[in-house]
Amino acid sequence: MTAYFVTSTGTDIGKTFVTAGLIRYLREAGQAVQALKPVVSGYDSSVVETSDPAVLLRALARPVTADEIAAMAPWRFRAPLSPDLAAAREGRSVDFDELTAFSRDAIAGTTGILFIEGVGGIMVPLDGTHTVLDWMAALAIPVILVVGGYLGTISHTLTALDVLAQRRLTIAVIVVSESERDTVPLEDTVDSIARFAQGVEVIGLPRLPRGLNQHPAFARIAALL
Ligand SMILES: Nc1ncnc2c1ncn2[C@@H]1O[C@H](COP(=O)(O)OP(=O)(O)OP(=O)(O)O)[C@@H](O)[C@H]1O
Ligand SMILES: [Mg+2]
Repeated sequence: MTAYFVTSTGTDIGKTFVTAGLIRYLREAGQAVQALKPVVSGYDSSVVETSDPAVLLRALARPVTADEIAAMAPWRFRAPLSPDLAAAREGRSVDFDELTAFSRDAIAGTTGILFIEGVGGIMVPLDGTHTVLDWMAALAIPVILVVGGYLGTISHTLTALDVLAQRRLTIAVIVVSESERDTVPLEDTVDSIARFAQGVEVIGLPRLPRGLNQHPAFARIAALL
C-alpha cells in the first residue's frame, strides 16, 4: 500500500481535478486505487453531484450514494468557510485525533494506492489549534503538491515547499495545474519552480477543455508515485 496526501497552495487550485485524473489513469493501467476526502466545507447536500466526494467517486467508478459519500467524507460542512469556522456554524467541530485515526486506519486498510485529498491550502485551520499541515505531519505520508499557474504562484509554491520541509514532509511531485486566466506561459512557471524545488519533479498540467480529465501529464505524474 502507498498513500499520498494531495494538498495545494490554496483552495480551488486543482487538487480534486488532479486526483480524479490520476485515479482514472491508474485504474485504466489496472492498478488498485482508492481515495478519501475526509473534510469538505461548502458541502451542499442538494447539489451533491459537483461535490469533491462525488467527483472522486465517479473517477473510482463507484456509485454516488449517501453511504459512499459518508464513507469517503465523514466531516462535511455546509458553509463555504475554513473547516473550523464551517463546523462552528453547525455547533460542531473537527476532532483532530479522530481525523488522524480515521486517516491512519484507511492507510493501513488499503491495498494499492490511496489518495487523501486535504481541504483548502496547506495551513487551513481544522480546529482552534491544528491546520492541515499538522494533519499531514501526523500521517507522515508523501505529499502531492498541486499549485496554480497564475502570476504569483512561484512565491506561493516556494513558501509552501519551505513549510513542508520544516515538517520533514516528502514531496512526491509538484503539479502546476493551469487555470483559465493564467497570463504566464505554463512551461515558464514549471521551469522557474523546478529551479528552486531542490530535485522534486515539477509537472505542468495544461487547462483541459470542460469535461476532459485525460492528459499525458497524468502518466508522467503516476510514474513518480
Ligand atoms: N488543469 C485543469 N484543466 C481544467 N480544469 C481544471 C484544471 N485544474 C482545475 N480545474 C477545474 O478548476 C476547478 C477547481 O479545481 P478543483 O476542484 O480540483 O480544486 P481543489 O483544489 O480541489 O479545490 P478545493 O479546495 O475546493 O477542494 C474545478 O472546476 C476543476 O474541474
Ligand atoms: Mg477539492
